[in-house]
Amino acid sequence: MPWKRRGFRGLDIRHAKNIGDLREIARRNVPNFIFEYVEGGAEDEATLRHNRAALEALRFVPTTLVDTRGRHQRIELFGRESPSPLIVAPTGGNGLSYPLGDLALARAAAAFGIPFCLSTVSTVRLERVAEEAPGRLWMQLYVMKDRTIAERIIERAAAANYEALVLTTDANTFGAREWDQRNYRSPGRPTLRNRLSALRHPRWLYEILIRRGAPRFENFAEYLPPGQASALGGSTIIPKLFEPCLCWDDIAWLRRLWPGKLIVKGVLSVKDAERAADCGCDGIVLTNHGGRQLDYCVAPIEVLPAIAAAVGERMTIIVDSGFRRGTDVIKALALGAHAVMIGRATLYGLIAAGQRGAERALELLRDEIDRTLGHLGCRSIGDLEPQLLFGEAK
Ligand SMILES: Cc1cc2nc3c(=O)[nH]c(=O)nc-3n(C[C@H](O)[C@H](O)[C@H](O)COP(=O)(O)O)c2cc1C
Repeated sequence: MPWKRRGFRGLDIRHAKNIGDLREIARRNVPNFIFEYVEGGAEDEATLRHNRAALEALRFVPTTLVDTRGRHQRIELFGRESPSPLIVAPTGGNGLSYPLGDLALARAAAAFGIPFCLSTVSTVRLERVAEEAPGRLWMQLYVMKDRTIAERIIERAAAANYEALVLTTDANTFGAREWDQRNYRSPGRPTLRNRLSALRHPRWLYEILIRRGAPRFENFAEYLPPGQASALGGSTIIPKLFEPCLCWDDIAWLRRLWPGKLIVKGVLSVKDAERAADCGCDGIVLTNHGGRQLDYCVAPIEVLPAIAAAVGERMTIIVDSGFRRGTDVIKALALGAHAVMIGRATLYGLIAAGQRGAERALELLRDEIDRTLGHLGCRSIGDLEPQLLFGEAK
């Protein structure tokens, strides 16, 4: 394992006290343009900042003098017990952050017994993840212009026993990630400044680009023109493959093809949540893609109470975007979410120290969730309610 427990410059992930510490270790491990790919948001990054601000604005009103010995954070998710209310979110291009990064993340999730959602634009093929990192696997789907790509991925994910298909609906029109645009001279070709940054990170250069060759979009590389499958500069290549024609009628098409749980990732309004429930979806993810798509977008935590009131009894509500602390997770669960997807927090762990780093991120979140339950006087997730948050409707 190239990035051992001890992160770059002697920083040890065991001493990381929170996700912010892992982020610091991660930042030093990779060239600037790789860190910016993970870190950045779209346009003015107003959505990115607002995700944090909206979570931070919520305050708890704890209940005191409650015996919380033996408390736990188990939940039931799609009829199966999960030891923690967390899911590792789909993130594309993980092989640029860490060698075979998808496998490391999937193994970390499996070690915690929680679902791992593999991205369509992963750099390890979905079958290999199922073989080498068996656990609770979900498959994220981007539907591209050539619909046979999606159809093939659905068939293959079903054959490999993936539990859920997560249709991402907020990327039909691709977000303007201006830092990524600035970091590449042309698709796949970093600017001179970024090439120099790569040279200053020889371990990254060797492990990621030289040893195995640049990571590729393995799930659909065979459909791309020669030389276009490289994940390097991927977000300058991928947008060309997308077409804004996916719509609600397509849910029936997916339902025909996909036998497992169907989740729509990209819902932010009550109307869309009700539509997803009416279409027979099993779940929704309230998300703004971690601030990487529409700028000046509402934060998922802000729309959660109304959506939970409308469809919380009919389908599973998952939320993401901006979650960095156990307190954030508890806030969402108190407001009616059933589980939380974690994006960058586990990526920081991955970049800091591979599987062990991702596990450390999950360990930190798990411990924070446990501590927060204790502070609030709750014995389980089932005890959480909106009244534990200041100012929430009684
Ligand atoms: C580097 C990166 C790559 C991502 N790639 C995908 C993807 O391929 N498919 C997808 O549905 N969402 C993708 N997302 C969005 C995440 O699934 C998730 O919604 C988001 O990261 C949550 O916000 P957070 O990072 O603040 O936790 C990506 C996010 C990041 C940071």
